[in-house]
Formats: sequence, C-alpha cells, structure tokens
Amino acid sequence: MEDKRENFGSKIGAILAAAGSAVGLGNIWRFPIVTGQNGGAAFIIIYIVCILLLGLPIMISEFLIGRHTHANTAGAYRILSNDGVWKWVGRLGVFTGWLILCYYGVVGGWTLHYSFLSATSAFNGVEASEFGDIFESFSSNPWMPTLWLVLFISITHIVITRGVQSGIEKFSKVMMPVLFIITAILVVCSVSLPGASAGIEYLLVPDWSKVTSGTVLSAMGQAFFSLSLGMGCLCTYASYFDGGTKLAKTAVNVSIIDTIVAVMAGFIIFPSVFNIGMNPNEVGAGASLIFISLPNVFQQAFTGLPFLSWIFSLLFYFLLFIAALTSAISLHEVATAFVVEEYHTPRRKAAVVVTSVCLVLGVLCSLSFGPLSGIQIFGRNIFSAFDDFSGMILLPIGGMLISIFSGWILDKQLYKEELSNQGDLKTPYFRMLVFALRYIAPVAIGIVFLDMMGLFEFLK
Ligand code: TRP
Repeated sequence: MEDKRENFGSKIGAILAAAGSAVGLGNIWRFPIVTGQNGGAAFIIIYIVCILLLGLPIMISEFLIGRHTHANTAGAYRILSNDGVWKWVGRLGVFTGWLILCYYGVVGGWTLHYSFLSATSAFNGVEASEFGDIFESFSSNPWMPTLWLVLFISITHIVITRGVQSGIEKFSKVMMPVLFIITAILVVCSVSLPGASAGIEYLLVPDWSKVTSGTVLSAMGQAFFSLSLGMGCLCTYASYFDGGTKLAKTAVNVSIIDTIVAVMAGFIIFPSVFNIGMNPNEVGAGASLIFISLPNVFQQAFTGLPFLSWIFSLLFYFLLFIAALTSAISLHEVATAFVVEEYHTPRRKAAVVVTSVCLVLGVLCSLSFGPLSGIQIFGRNIFSAFDDFSGMILLPIGGMLISIFSGWILDKQLYKEELSNQGDLKTPYFRMLVFALRYIAPVAIGIVFLDMMGLFEFLK
C-alpha cells in the first residue's frame, strides 16, 4: 500500500495545489465584505495577525501530520495516536469535509450558471431591480440548480479520478496562474473606473472606530475558513509532499497567496460598487452580493460599453468557478483518500462513492431553496444548516483539537525532526510555534467558539 502511494511531482505543484484549496469562495465573496464592514485596513491588519498567531501554526501542524504519516486524514491521526481516542480528530475531519463539499458544490453550480448567463449576454439591458428576481427564480427552481450542481461535482470527480499528479497537481498548475491573471485583469479594470478611488479608500484607510471584539472574532473565523484549516484538508494534501518539501515555507507561501487574492477581490468589488454610486453597506453579503448586486454593478459600470460589461462579468464568474472548483477538489480528495486507504478500495470506485453521497446530500441542499424550503433544522433551511453546522461548530472544534493534539500530545522530538526535514533545516521559530499551538490557538478558538454559540450575548 505504502509504495503505491503517489506524491506531488514538484514543489511548485504542491504549493499551487494547497493554494488552490485555500483560495475559494471565502476569499472572493466573504473577505471583501467583512473587510469593508470592519474598518478596511484595520481589519486587514487584525486578519494578518490572526494568520500569524493562529493560521500558520495550525497549517504547519496539518502539513506535518500529513507528511509524517503519508496517510489520509483519518489514517494519519490513527497512526499518530496509536489507535487511541485522538483518532477521532481525523475521522471528524473527513466527516466535516464531506459535509462542506455538499453545500459548496451547490454554490459551485451557481457560479457555472452565472458564467453561462454572462457568456450568453443574458444580463444585457436588465433593470437593477430585476436581478433579485432572476436569482430568486433560478435558485428556487427544482431543476436548473440541480443540473449545474451535477455538472460541477462531475468536473470535480473527473479531476479526482485522474489521481494526485495528473489530476490535482496538473489541474492546479494550470488553473492557479489562470486564476491569478484573471484576478489581476479585473482589478486593473475596476480600479480604473471613474470614482474608483472612493472604493480604494474604503478598503485601505484604516477606520479603527469600527473595530470591536466582533471584528477580531470575524477575522479569526475568516482566517480559518479561508486557509482551509480545521478538518485535515491540508493534512491530506501534505501526505503527498515529499521529504524535501519545506513545511514552514510552504505554509507561508500558501498564506501569502491566499491573502493577496482576498485583498485583490476587494479591489475588484468595491471600486466598481462605488463607481455606480451604490452604498457598500447595501450590497449585501454572500449570495446576495455575488449573484444580485454584482451582476447589476457590472452592467452599470460599463454603460455604453457592452463588450466590457460582457467580458468583465464573464471573467468574474469564471474566476469564482475556478476558485470554487480547486477548493472542492481538495475537499473531495479528503474523503476519497479516506475511502481508498481505510477501506482498501480502488481510487475510481472510492471517488464514485464520495461523489454519490455528495450528489444526494447536495441535491437536498440545492432543493432547500425551492421545493424543500419548508424543511427547517434549528430555524435554517438544509443548505444553511450544513453551512453553519460545519463552519460554526465542526471547524472550530476540529481546529482546536488539532492545535491541542499537535501542541500537547504529539511527541516534540518527532515534531521537530519532521519540521526540520530530519535536521536539514534550521527551525529557530520552533519554541514560538509550540507556544502558539499550546496556548494561543486553543484559547483563541475557544473564545470564538463560545462567542458564536452566543455565550457572551447571553451573559450580557
Ligand atoms: N478555503 C476555501 C475557501 O476559501 C474553502 C475550503 C476548502 C475549506 N477546503 C476547506 C474551508 C477546508 C474549511 C476547511 O473558500
């Protein structure tokens, strides 16, 4: 089994695959909005501090656990815990990833539909007030979103069945540069619009008056989701790293790429929002920003220049699609590697199992905007229940357990040897890293978690 396992073929392939996992919908539709609402550059500074204190240590640990064991996430924790109770951290991760993939795929399907609408100039001449209805009637339709979901998951499936090197790595090596170039083109277009400077100011001038404890908490949650931490996604990818891959350096590179793309997404969205004179507090967040406000913004920003509207909108939704796809691939791989190794199943068969489960649950998520909207779980439709349960409960718990496991339980000698590539690299940051894992990360995540559960509200 061990010698049949694939590795990434190159260091750059490994970095781009991990960056592909990290750069996703979180960067493009969440980061700009939270930044805008929380004091622009002030938020960005806090976000970067969160990455340094929390994101990097956990990412390095996830890399280390994966690379040391060369096993899927469930296997990795089973091996390192000698089949003890900590093996459940890995299993929880596989479960969480599976769950995230189901609703993530729904949004992936929406990005395909909007790419298609953009390509066919369907937004041409549509009134501002109509975009809400367009999205509403699309997402509540029982058939259309389901078809796009099936297409999105099928593309993910095809890449996964091709394996680690000729599937995931090759795809990331082509798609990540494409993603970066499209992002750069859109930034240039957006910041050269008349009135764009107000949008740039909105993002870059730190407004410390908007910073509250909630700001710090959103920054942490955002750092976590955006870097794909807390469920063994990067642990699975790192199990394909070779012995020479520098773990800390790779983690730094991935975090830098992820943050740059997120900030650039802000420079795509806000200058064009200000250009058409929209109030940034009224564009909404998440789905309503991306699928209702922005199609309108793209139409209006280039009034009289239909070609520019067309290409801008098409490139934007295609960008979202690629970003979502490379992240979905990483989520799919966690579950596929798990089925392959823990149940001794051929990769093709394992991928079919993972895809089938995702399609069944994904269709339920998708239908929860239409025919199944009556089914409520804790006051949410199925889609939001999946989203909130994984993002607000499972990921923080997973992240906290990973930091406690790697800080307190894992043998420090083993940790240091793996981190230094068996003594080849100097690791002057080792003690700081252990400190962050033992104390800073668990406490910080604990606070976020309690806050999300509403404890502080309750105490007030
Ligand atoms: N990081 C991705 C984004 O920004 C989403 C993602 C992929 C993810 N894999 C993950 C989030 C694992 C949490 C855990 O959209």
